Amino acid sequence: MPQLALNYPSHLQTVKATFDQAMQAASVDGVAIYSGHARLQFLDDMHYPFRANPHLKWWLPDSGNEYCWIYYAPGTKPKLVFYQPDDYWYLPPSDPSGFWVEHFDICIVRQSEQARGELPGDLSRTAVLGEPELLPDWGFGAINPDTLINPLHWRRGRKTAYELECMTVATQRGVAAHRAAEAAFRDGASEYEIQQAYLLGAGQTDDEMPYGNIVGLNEHGAVLHYQHLDKTPPAQLHSFLIDAGASCAGYACDITRSYSANPGDKFDQMIQALDQHQQEMCAGVQVGTPYPDLHLDAHRRVAGILSDFDLVSVSPEEAVASGVTSTFYPHGLGHLLGLQVHDVGGHQAGPEGGIAPPPKEHPFLRMTQTLDAGHVVTIEPGIYFIPSLLDKLRSGANAAAVNWDEVNEMLPCGGIRIEDNVVATPEGPRNLTRAAFAAP
Ligand code: GLY
Ligand code: MN
Repeated sequence: MPQLALNYPSHLQTVKATFDQAMQAASVDGVAIYSGHARLQFLDDMHYPFRANPHLKWWLPDSGNEYCWIYYAPGTKPKLVFYQPDDYWYLPPSDPSGFWVEHFDICIVRQSEQARGELPGDLSRTAVLGEPELLPDWGFGAINPDTLINPLHWRRGRKTAYELECMTVATQRGVAAHRAAEAAFRDGASEYEIQQAYLLGAGQTDDEMPYGNIVGLNEHGAVLHYQHLDKTPPAQLHSFLIDAGASCAGYACDITRSYSANPGDKFDQMIQALDQHQQEMCAGVQVGTPYPDLHLDAHRRVAGILSDFDLVSVSPEEAVASGVTSTFYPHGLGHLLGLQVHDVGGHQAGPEGGIAPPPKEHPFLRMTQTLDAGHVVTIEPGIYFIPSLLDKLRSGANAAAVNWDEVNEMLPCGGIRIEDNVVATPEGPRNLTRAAFAAP
């Protein structure tokens, strides 16, 4: 944490400067950022899990607290209105503490409505950032105006040294957990047991995970966002795909690894081949490179592997041109990563907004920006054996392009995905994930 403390003041300076500029463009004098609050479940007195507004987490380490506000006007010290109810059903949050508190005027309220008295009386020239359905009707001049939000999202894509440090720590936690998960898999554990090993390895609760862990044995590796945890291991173990992260101060890592249960078999060799290509793709995370170029390159490489392993009978070029690779690799190469796993702004055309759409053959590509210094992107190519997509290919015009016997043999293995988190820097790519795996 000392490095976080050292880097935080200049991060906050960057955030303030970004707001100063964006607020001028949006013609507002103040900004109020609402954390949000947990919603009640239907006909119940239980709440859904609470996730704080990422804009609030950009200003200060996520405390996961509800009913909080930040108020900021350029040239003033930001104010944190901190909700600390007098409660005995739930443990109230402790007083704000840590390296960041000296940078805020902090006032504590016991009831959520009291926050109104801590904001300026006239809010007609204040924009509010928050989930619209959760906002009180306090006369804000604008709710999430695009003129304000677009430059914020653009800047959020380019990480400060503090943010990179948060993501480095998140990655170290994630890598420790991935090691524990692999060991559990090698011991023959069920998906449920692997998940427990993962959380223990990360030293985090399920609620601290930045997204629902994907823990798939055998065919479950072919379900891109597989969401269950079988409690018994399969009778015959073939493979394991785990896509799971960890968090630090509100920032995420997003890591995927794939394993064969039978080292040296064809599936294992395919994993090694994709791993080799994936590292070469990570080396392509260069400032000035349009991210969609990396995605198209990934398709060419996947086609090469499909051809090398005799899964298709056509040339790699034909496999790409005919769209056959999209059956085996039906998602985008990756996305921006940060306060959100699929961080904002991936399709933004510029700081003022506008949409840069993905290529029409690749609608699932989440990142279309040209790589800039400070962008953190995932590089996550995959090769899957997804029965429903294979059925469509088998009944279509390109059926003859596939060696079906070879493909059917691979079905029990599900799929392969290998995912690292890479920073684009003026000195070249910095792979946060491989660095953490390489550390003792
Ligand atoms: N880690 C899940 C995803 O990127 O969609
Ligand atoms: Mn991802």
